[in-house]
Amino acid sequence: MLLFNSNFGVSDNRCETAAFCINSPVSTNLAFMSAKHEVRTKMPTIIDQENDLSADSMNEDKSPDLEGLRSKLIHLYDHNAPRYDNDRSLNESLHYYFDHAHRAVDALIGPTNKDTLHLDMPVGTGRFLIYLREQDRNHRMIGIDISKGMLDVAADTSRENSFDIAFSQGDAFSLPFADNSIDVLTSLRMFHLFPHCYWPGLLDEMHRVLRPGGILITELRNAARGTACQLLVPGFRKRRKQHPHVFVNPLSIKPLFRRWENMHMQGVGLDALAKIHRLSPLIARSVDSLQRSTFVRYFSKTLIIRANKPRQLN
Ligand SMILES: C[S@@+](CC[C@H](N)C(=O)[O-])C[C@H]1O[C@@H](n2cnc3c(N)ncnc32)[C@H](O)[C@@H]1O
Repeated sequence: MLLFNSNFGVSDNRCETAAFCINSPVSTNLAFMSAKHEVRTKMPTIIDQENDLSADSMNEDKSPDLEGLRSKLIHLYDHNAPRYDNDRSLNESLHYYFDHAHRAVDALIGPTNKDTLHLDMPVGTGRFLIYLREQDRNHRMIGIDISKGMLDVAADTSRENSFDIAFSQGDAFSLPFADNSIDVLTSLRMFHLFPHCYWPGLLDEMHRVLRPGGILITELRNAARGTACQLLVPGFRKRRKQHPHVFVNPLSIKPLFRRWENMHMQGVGLDALAKIHRLSPLIARSVDSLQRSTFVRYFSKTLIIRANKPRQLN
């Protein structure tokens, strides 16, 4: 099935369903924070549900059932899509973290021009691509996700804001793109959904579709942060149930990216940074910048990895 406007140059017959050619700025804000806090006390957040799902798939079986996990994820996200964005800005800390992550990834993409082809996968409700359009990025953008519900929200938001972004349904394990066709691939907040044994396969598929020299930026949950916080902050242990397999040990990242070059790792999201930001945005920005290359990154919520597909393939 043909996915997008032909000017995207995407050859595709591997996609499962609909395509939407879209448009859209959504500014997240904290206006509904108190109402959202109330929601949190009444029902588990999508984040809790994601953790539980991937934990189940790990505990039930030593060789986890990918098909089963995939259907559960589609169900989870289709079901939660209408409240996903609200759920994600439940509190100031999460809001600050998303804002920081988007700023950091935007900077890591570097210069683009109107011919640059950028795939965001999974695009979810389109938040990152919409953020980029709000920053006046004018390159070609395509968002892929397995959940039709999430894509519908993304398409509506984009259209409401008259942004030109294409969205289509597709699977991370079998991307609907020709080899070497994508210039920039961003993949934020996805790996934690899958047990570690699937991560190399996901990275190989991203490697396939990127052109030589193309940029991959992905985000992984940082295992060191939990350990560091548990050692340093007495109350941290009680704060939330943590499922170790959704996190990555920073020391195991390099081997995972052995097919890539120019790897750079930085941190995003430090506990209490949102509060510091409220008191002094300048100090908060300075601490943000420490997460780029100093040891402070090991205390961060997530690790952003930027790497290139080598120009000369062996
Ligand atoms: C935590 S959300 C992140 C979405 C977006 N990147 C963001 O930062 O808001 C995870 C997304 O992964 C999508 N997803 C799960 N399994 C997938 C798969 N096999 N292929 C493509 N998308 C998938 C879900 O539908 C969901 O939209």
